[in-house]
Amino acid sequence: MLELANTLSTSLQGQTIQNRVREVGINPNYWYAVAWAHDLKAGKILPIRIWNQSIALYRDSQNQVQAVENVCPHKGVAMDKGKVQGDAIVCGYHGWEFNGQGECVGIPYWNQGQKLPCAQMKPFPVQEKYGLIWIFPGDRALAATQSPPQIPEYDDPNCLMIPLGAAFKAHFSICNENTMDVFHGYLHQNLQGWFDPVLIKLGETEESILAEYRVSYRGFLTKLLGFSKDGGITTKTISIDYQYPNYINKLENVSSLYLMRLPISRTESRSFALFFLRLPIPTWLLNPLRRALQPLILHLLFLPFLHQDIEMIESEQENYLKDPQRRYVEVNPAIIAIQRLIVKQYDRYRSTDQ
Ligand code: FES
Ligand SMILES: [Fe+2]
Repeated sequence: MLELANTLSTSLQGQTIQNRVREVGINPNYWYAVAWAHDLKAGKILPIRIWNQSIALYRDSQNQVQAVENVCPHKGVAMDKGKVQGDAIVCGYHGWEFNGQGECVGIPYWNQGQKLPCAQMKPFPVQEKYGLIWIFPGDRALAATQSPPQIPEYDDPNCLMIPLGAAFKAHFSICNENTMDVFHGYLHQNLQGWFDPVLIKLGETEESILAEYRVSYRGFLTKLLGFSKDGGITTKTISIDYQYPNYINKLENVSSLYLMRLPISRTESRSFALFFLRLPIPTWLLNPLRRALQPLILHLLFLPFLHQDIEMIESEQENYLKDPQRRYVEVNPAIIAIQRLIVKQYDRYRSTDQ
């Protein structure tokens, strides 16, 4: 990993490519989380979108998830208006049936024994893992060369998992910059979030940005998380690891956050986050408390932070759209690095896709 040690202090050095980063698309040759697995019920069709592509998800008779283009190749009707029948997805208009590979396998008014027309929907590589459904929207031949992030905490009995989904009316770059930006503790000060952030390390590869910040906490949160008994000031290291297109963030010995970003369109994004907390209590006590703690932490801790972030993110997007030529001033080298990476990943995909 290339160290950028001499550029850590907030400064005006470095070229910002901010305006272009708001217009670029995704590199689709990665696995993207697109839905919570429990939202895809047997017998139902779940429509999702990933970077302007509509995809219909359904479960076949073996409960395996299938993913096909959400457009019927007969006349273009959305497939989620239809139904699931055995292993097939059936269009709601004329009843044409398709298998998980998107091939037409039946037409209700077709003469028996006659060859079916060659009508094909695009199929997508899909998998179910960590309670999420993942799609590989790029070149099918590359799907096996990539995988969703490893999440060892998912099966760790000492961790409390809190899933959290969010939707943003904003380009994915604005959302990703918010996650990389530890300097916005200012926004969350009434929630007793972190303060005094210092960027202490920044590294960059072709596919990742790793930033480490030192931050301080005090008050209610420090007591809740067991940092300090009297709520006094505690200093911790936060590592923010953007591994395109997702985040793996860790707060020293306390928690991990896996944040999967779903870019939907130029002005819409979603996120699927799995937060793992290592609470200072034994497993025998943690297990019965799990069900009660999850909603409590979600409502007390995450949703208030998230709502504050969404307001800022969407305001940034709104003003960008009013005047896309306007230049803004960025001083955090970690943000400049992530902008550079998002643009580079898009350009890399475009250069191989010609
Ligand atoms: S439009 Fe789908 S079967 Fe006719
Ligand atoms: Fe925030």
